[in-house]
Amino acid sequence: RGPETVSPTGQPTGADPARMAQSGAYLTTAQGTRLYDTDHSLKAGARGPVLLQDHHLREKITHFDHERIPERVVHARGAAAHGIFQGYGTASGVCRAAFLGKGVETPVFVRFSTVLGSRGSADTVRDTRGFATKFYTSEGTFDLVGNNIPVFFIQDAVKFPDVVHAAKPHPDREIPQAQSAHDTFWDFVTLHTEATHHTLWNMSDRGIPRSYRMMEGFGVHTFRLVDAEGGTTLAKFHWKPKLGVHSLVWEEAQIINGVDPDFHRRDLADAIEAGAYPQWELGVQTFPDTPDQTFEGIDLLDPTNIVPEELAPVQPIGLLTLNANPSNFFAETEQVAFHPGHLVPGIDITDDPLLAGRLFSYLDTQISRLGGPNFAQIPINRPHAPVNDMFRDGMHQTAVHRGVAPYRPNSLDGGCPFLAGADTGAFVETPVEVPAARKVREAPESFADHFSQPRRFWLSMSPAEREHIIAAYTFELGKCHEQAIKERGLRVLANIDSELCRRVAQGLGLPAPEPTVAPADVAPSPALSQLGHTWPVE
Ligand code: HEM
Repeated sequence: RGPETVSPTGQPTGADPARMAQSGAYLTTAQGTRLYDTDHSLKAGARGPVLLQDHHLREKITHFDHERIPERVVHARGAAAHGIFQGYGTASGVCRAAFLGKGVETPVFVRFSTVLGSRGSADTVRDTRGFATKFYTSEGTFDLVGNNIPVFFIQDAVKFPDVVHAAKPHPDREIPQAQSAHDTFWDFVTLHTEATHHTLWNMSDRGIPRSYRMMEGFGVHTFRLVDAEGGTTLAKFHWKPKLGVHSLVWEEAQIINGVDPDFHRRDLADAIEAGAYPQWELGVQTFPDTPDQTFEGIDLLDPTNIVPEELAPVQPIGLLTLNANPSNFFAETEQVAFHPGHLVPGIDITDDPLLAGRLFSYLDTQISRLGGPNFAQIPINRPHAPVNDMFRDGMHQTAVHRGVAPYRPNSLDGGCPFLAGADTGAFVETPVEVPAARKVREAPESFADHFSQPRRFWLSMSPAEREHIIAAYTFELGKCHEQAIKERGLRVLANIDSELCRRVAQGLGLPAPEPTVAPADVAPSPALSQLGHTWPVE
């Protein structure tokens, strides 16, 4: 159960021979009995019936029959790599997490993904990309489960099944949105206008990255950093690619999907194999942890909001280098289990209602996807910090627990309480005030502005980026069968920008509606444009 059979990059070292399949001198059964033939079933005579008593035949076929596990309910298609994260020490003033300390090196495993396609879908579709990082820190595993788009479709996790059902292939013919009717996706995002910002990013070049190596990553939610004295700071995490941010254009993406559906995973694996290790700097935007948890009028608990980098610069706090490809896709890329609740001392959550739902959802789905509650024992998921939980039994239990009293403290197994004190490196929840309140099913008033931030994004785009956005909306809305959905889509665009709306309406052959809300007076944020993307500053 401990880290001794795992290399610094998280791969099995071979210390445990049972994990090194296909390396012995002889072919054997799963029980280690030597085989002399694996190509012929046992039969009564060369042309006679196959005998049920052939254990090797039954074992081989039964195992094969059960090779597949359910794919992830979202983010099913992914590619991953091992690497190293090196802390700069620049966050130490606001965050006590040991892995952010100056020069501290932490093994990581990063999985990139598309959200909507199945495991066998194509890479260069228009979609959000997952950017999930597992830091195997000395204080326990920290997962930063982010995306390449800094905002999300919904403000409350209770709508997550709805947005995913609306965006997944249609239930009747299971034809993906991009090739068939687009009605359910556009129905949802125009009825729930909080989705406008994320949708606009999807329709921009960010929706079709050139390479995983050339994408930004975002933690999306606001997190709470805790310093050595217990002081707190609110923060948003950013990954900044050293290669800069680059995208495909739509025609390229379409052609590549046909010619090489594995384009992104091939690009990542080839680059690492060639020694061109992709790198990202981890950065944070920090904000005072005020009782209202807003910054410059922006509600930090609303995951459809960004904070412009001009208002809160991204400060670099460490360097990620991906330097090793997985040796087995299933064992590592498929079985890795990320969870936004895997936190370490120094990094805590806020009351973002989307994050609250995620804290429940990932463990729940992984129990079903990975066959029970013991998936933390799978090599890729094993913490590199010592584990001493009191969890017992369950499907796929591989630990041989000792002792008679699986609870702490006890007076039988040495009586040791085994609990760290709050001052001994334990994770201690920040004692934030919970205001007295009524139970309600409603969003706060501060979540109601769905158009100012999309307008800022649009105003920040270069002319070429705007043309791409207009073309994407025209193409996508043009695929809707329902006229009413196209018209509702235009009404949403009118509330972002009249020129955007007019051009898309022109493309659809429909009249451009008037806005229903006055255009917000927002300043462009040059950092949002890929052309204005000035990172890294060498
Ligand atoms: C998977 C990101 C919102 C449920 C993932 C993955 C990423 C991700 C990157 C893939 C992890 C991997 O590579 O294995 C995000 C982000 C969100 C978000 C950035 C919003 C800010 C949600 C919400 C829910 C949810 C609101 C549910 C309430 C799931 C589930 C999986 C998943 C069930 C599959 C996990 C697995 O099978 O291992 N998400 N997600 N996500 N997400 Fe989210």
